[in-house]
Order: sequence, then structure tokens, then C-alpha cells
Amino acid sequence: STVVDGERIFDLRLQEGVADFGRGRTPTWGVNGDYLGPTLRAERGERVRIRVRNDLGEDTSLHWHGMHLPAAMDGGPHQPVGAGATWTPHWRIDQTAATLWYHPHLHGKTAAHVYRGLAGLFVLDDAKERSLPLPRSYGVDDIPVILQDKKLHDDGSLDEDAGLFRSAGLTGDTVVVNGTVGPYLDVSTEAVRLRVVNASNTRPYSLRFDDGSSFAMIASDGGLLDAPIFLTRLQLSVGERAEIVVALDPGERRVLRSGPSDSGDRLAGGGDRLDLLELRAADELRPAPALPAALTEQPALAEDEAVRTRTFDLAGFSINGRTMDLGRIDHASTVGDTEIWEVTNADGGSHNFHVHDVQFQVLAVDGEPPPPELAGQKDTVWIRPKETVRLIMRFEGYTSPGTPYMFHCHTLRHEDLGMMGQFVVV
Ligand code: C2O
Ligand code: CU
Ligand code: CU
Repeated sequence: STVVDGERIFDLRLQEGVADFGRGRTPTWGVNGDYLGPTLRAERGERVRIRVRNDLGEDTSLHWHGMHLPAAMDGGPHQPVGAGATWTPHWRIDQTAATLWYHPHLHGKTAAHVYRGLAGLFVLDDAKERSLPLPRSYGVDDIPVILQDKKLHDDGSLDEDAGLFRSAGLTGDTVVVNGTVGPYLDVSTEAVRLRVVNASNTRPYSLRFDDGSSFAMIASDGGLLDAPIFLTRLQLSVGERAEIVVALDPGERRVLRSGPSDSGDRLAGGGDRLDLLELRAADELRPAPALPAALTEQPALAEDEAVRTRTFDLAGFSINGRTMDLGRIDHASTVGDTEIWEVTNADGGSHNFHVHDVQFQVLAVDGEPPPPELAGQKDTVWIRPKETVRLIMRFEGYTSPGTPYMFHCHTLRHEDLGMMGQFVVV
């Protein structure tokens, strides 16, 4: 990126490419390259401008998942980028340090476009995060981990067919991490920070290490947790992110894998065991500071601030009985208002829930306080079959009665089939 007149400018080119996923030539899509895209990085308070040039032969869009921004800049289905066209959204970064990501969001096409490889990280920095003794040398001890799974034809090309009776959508047996199959990472420091994003179509990952060892989770979708939490397993459904810090001994090898989970995600492939990334520690490691006991103080929204409760039932590729209609606004929220959204996985399918523009907090999962990994700022949350999650959020800053934001299931096939709705902030 370059900075011109105080504005950070990114040039992105959506293009066709070719990748090697171990079975010859795989035609893919990428951003400024063959597959996936560059990590974009900006500072809280900074103005950004992104020139998105579509050199693909068809329309797509680019959405900034997790970003608080004006609806017209969101890159959702109302901001398609035509073949050959350039779209230039701009906004001011107005949220805490976080690992966000970008991906297409053209209605009905999101699954295919993400699957072909249009995705990347959007890392936000701020002074608070920088004041903490955390690993932050990008590519050295601060590593993006973008997870996608693929089904490949014998000739190497992507099999985009979800398959018969696969209502959850496509799962593949080839896991590609940052574009590499069977990857390992040479680690030169005592601690490594992994910024993991589930950029798959369907599959939730139940992260753990092969030796059952614990790791520290320091951030979720919307930024740092109040304090590190130590876990041996962490579920990430499609669209969710986590930053984890892993401590290693000299010479040690440890494999990050996804194992069978019990989160009601078997239909989406959550029952599979898959190796994701091997960490290979050098025989001598540079020392890393101890993790701080406290990381930040997240603004907590109190239930009694909420002015209304909305309910959303996810069932049959629709929400509250309605499938996505680009011409219909499902509700209007008022800027400054705090709202509670109760979202139910009513049909027992493989659903999660994502809201644009805001980070929410999970108040309860089926009436119980959320587990610690859901205690942070979230924009996407898994919902087990028949379960209800109670979310609280506040709409701040931007209003635009004419341009909606989306809420939807982030299982991409469900989203494409219409398990999505639209709200405006007025
Ligand atoms: Cu990750 Cu509506 O998007
Ligand atoms: Cu989003
Ligand atoms: Cu769903």
C-alpha cells in the first residue's frame, strides 16, 4: 500500500490463476496473484481507499468481513464489481486491532468465488495492541493461517459440485493452508502467533494439537480478549477467526489439526480428522516474552441498555420464513441503539450467524453463559442444532436508509440459497 494525502491506498486486482494442490494444475482465482490475496493492514483512525479491479470474466464483489464501515463501502451483494470494472470503496478505520478478512459476496455466487480462492486477511492495528508483549513480526512469529478445503478432479481442477444430498454444501478432503497442501512452518522463536481464519465453504474446524497440548487464545473475530485463555480445542466455523499463541520447545514438532468435534457439525464435515499445519521449532529459539495476564478491556454492553429484542429463526434456507430478496429490507435499526438478537438454529442444519457492520457479544447460549472463547467481540457465531444464541450489539456511526447491511448464515451454500436478510441503520 501507499499513503497519499493521509490516505492508505491499496490496489487489488482480481484475476485468474493456477495453483498446485498436489494433483497437477488447478485453475484458481486470486487477488494480485494466483490464489488468495495479500494481507491488507491498516491502523485504527487511518483512512483507507481500496481500488478493486475485476479482471475476471464475470461480476463479483469484495466484502470486508468484520469491518465497521458505511453500508455503501461494505462490498456486499449491492456493490457488485462488473467484469473489467474498478470499484473504489473508502472509509476510516474505526475499531480496535483485529484480524478481519475479505471475500466476495455476490448473491448466489459467494460459495463458488470464495472456493476458487478470492480471500485474504485484513489486519487492523492499534496502539493498545502494540503496547503488549505479543509476537508481531509478520511472517516470522505472526503468521496468517487461511484454511480452505478442496475437492479436486483427477485432472487437478476444482470440483465445485456440492454433491447429492449435501445440504450443507461442499466439503473437500484436501486442506489448503495459505495455498499450500501439507504445509509446515519453520519456527525460530519460543512463541508463535497464528491468525487463523476459516475461509472454507462449509467445514467447521475443531482445532487442537496432535499431542493434546494447550495453546493460548488471545483474540477472536473482533479483536483481543480481556485476557488470554488456555484451550486444548477450539471450534472455528466458516468466517470465524482466532488468534492463538503457541509456545514451543527447541527442536519440537507439533501438528495443528482438526479433529472430530461434538458441536453438531458432522453434516458439515466437522467429524473429519485433518492435519492442517506442522510447526517445526529450530534447535535454538529466540526468547519470547511471557504472555501478559491481561490484554485489554473490552467494552461490555449491558442487557438493560437494549431497547429491543429481535428473533431470527434459521430454517429451510431462509430466516424467519423468508429467503433473501435484494429488494426487501427486513428491518431498520436506529443508530445509537443497543439491540438483542436471538438467533435459533430451528431446523438443525449446519448454521452459523454473521452480522455486517458490528461486532456483537454473546450473552447466552441456550440460556447459559457462553464459553470463554465466545466471550469476546464476535461477528460470526456457530449455532448448534436447535440451539438459540442471544447476542447484543450497538449500531454506531453510520446511517444510510437506502443501502442495507446483511445478516446471514455463513455456510456459503446456505447464504447463496437465501439464508440471508437485510437491515438498514437509520
Ligand atoms: Cu463474510 Cu456477509 O460475510
Ligand atoms: Cu461480513
Ligand atoms: Cu446455514
